[in-house]
Amino acid sequence: MKTDYKFPESFLWGAATSAYQVEGAAEEDGKKKSQQDILNIKPGLTDASVASDHYHRFREDVALMKELGMTTYRFSIAWARIFPDGVGEVNPKGVQFYHDLIDELRANGIEPMPTLYHYDMPMTLVEKYDGWIDRRSVADFEYYARFVISEYGPKVKYWLTINEQSIIVQYWTQKCLIPERYLDDPQIKYQINHHMNLAHAISCKLVHELVPGGLVGAAIGYSPIYPASCKPEDCMAAQNANDLRNYYYTDVYFYGHYNKAALTYLEKNGLAPKIEPGDEDLFKEGSSDFLALNFYSSDMATVAPEGAARRMSGFNPTGIKGQMEGFETQPGFYMLAQNPTLDTNDWDWTIDPMGLTYILRDLYTRYGKPLMITENGIGAYDTLEPDGSIHDPYRIDYLEKHIKAIKHAIDYGVEVLAYHPWSFMDLISTSNGFKKRYGFVYVNRTDDDLKDLKRYKKDSFYWYQKVLASNGACLED
Ligand code: BG6
Repeated sequence: MKTDYKFPESFLWGAATSAYQVEGAAEEDGKKKSQQDILNIKPGLTDASVASDHYHRFREDVALMKELGMTTYRFSIAWARIFPDGVGEVNPKGVQFYHDLIDELRANGIEPMPTLYHYDMPMTLVEKYDGWIDRRSVADFEYYARFVISEYGPKVKYWLTINEQSIIVQYWTQKCLIPERYLDDPQIKYQINHHMNLAHAISCKLVHELVPGGLVGAAIGYSPIYPASCKPEDCMAAQNANDLRNYYYTDVYFYGHYNKAALTYLEKNGLAPKIEPGDEDLFKEGSSDFLALNFYSSDMATVAPEGAARRMSGFNPTGIKGQMEGFETQPGFYMLAQNPTLDTNDWDWTIDPMGLTYILRDLYTRYGKPLMITENGIGAYDTLEPDGSIHDPYRIDYLEKHIKAIKHAIDYGVEVLAYHPWSFMDLISTSNGFKKRYGFVYVNRTDDDLKDLKRYKKDSFYWYQKVLASNGACLED
């Protein structure tokens, strides 16, 4: 029988970005620097001062979203644009920017879906007390979140709290500016995550308190982890990896406590966060309404001997296949490795559409809460042709297979609310600058040359437009 790819009528179709990756205007109209404005100055990265110039061109960009047929847009709010020093005096021009953006989206029939935090801690708080490392960050985040949620609450139904706590733990020095004296202390990353869990729970409570009918959840970077073989030892390693890399985060959001096996492993290895009395009560009070997933690829686990060297995931800095710097190893628990059965993109990220069906089913069975996709896409080298076209069949292929994978999950009874591919337009990749592109809309600049920042529609733009216009029905096997 032919599969029907028509999605439910209420399904929201969109795309995603984040503030520092697209906005630019890093120190304009009262905004002060965030840690990403400092981190991205490093060699090999792209400084965020201009990015895709969305701050100045957002009306043109929203017009393109409308033309694409989007009914939702996931973006993030830059904390340092609202409160340049993290707390204290509010920046009226920053507040106005997001009012203008949200109003423009609404006027074009697009549901605004803001994320409160996407890696960009205000630098003032990093200088004051080392940012998320210090528990004072939780109170300052509450101050910021309370303001933002009250201010935009009447116009925003869906709220995303913190982007990718799991990835922040994996790549803590890339996602946070960590002073040197902490670099030899691997416990710190779990402490940062604990503070973020508190901030997440507080945000959920605030949405429930301040936004009638508002719904809230975290956006988590999530990859299923398969065993390297059917040997029981590999299956156990995969379970260990799923507990520490995945459920360690999501169990807090829905059960209000840390995954037991993962926390026990961290405790035995001196890595567990310091948890104060009442913290888990707060987790329970700040339960999520849904879970948002950033899904790109899957992982594979095998056994790690007790004496193995501990390390976190590496990444491929070159964009030449086979140059992944290394895989996470947790001695005596698991070690990740490249899955030989899957193809990858040029940065060695596996391509695994069925993995998306797999996690949607698994998470829905585990928590029984609606799910949405807040990121999914393929980073690739794109070429702007002399006639202004960009031919990106690899992106169309990747997205088509993942959209079908979502529909397969829906057909199994999973409640999926929305799909936001990454990304609406080209932006600064967190690990590979402007070389690695994700957008439906090409932005004419490179890492070193700002050119004219003009927008061009890629082939994938026209393809996605048809998918949205037909609510998925144009897709066939
Ligand atoms: C997610 C992030 O981890 O992956 C995005 O939320 C990021 O900010 C995306 O851009 C793709 O990763 P990268 O490193 O290619 O930019």
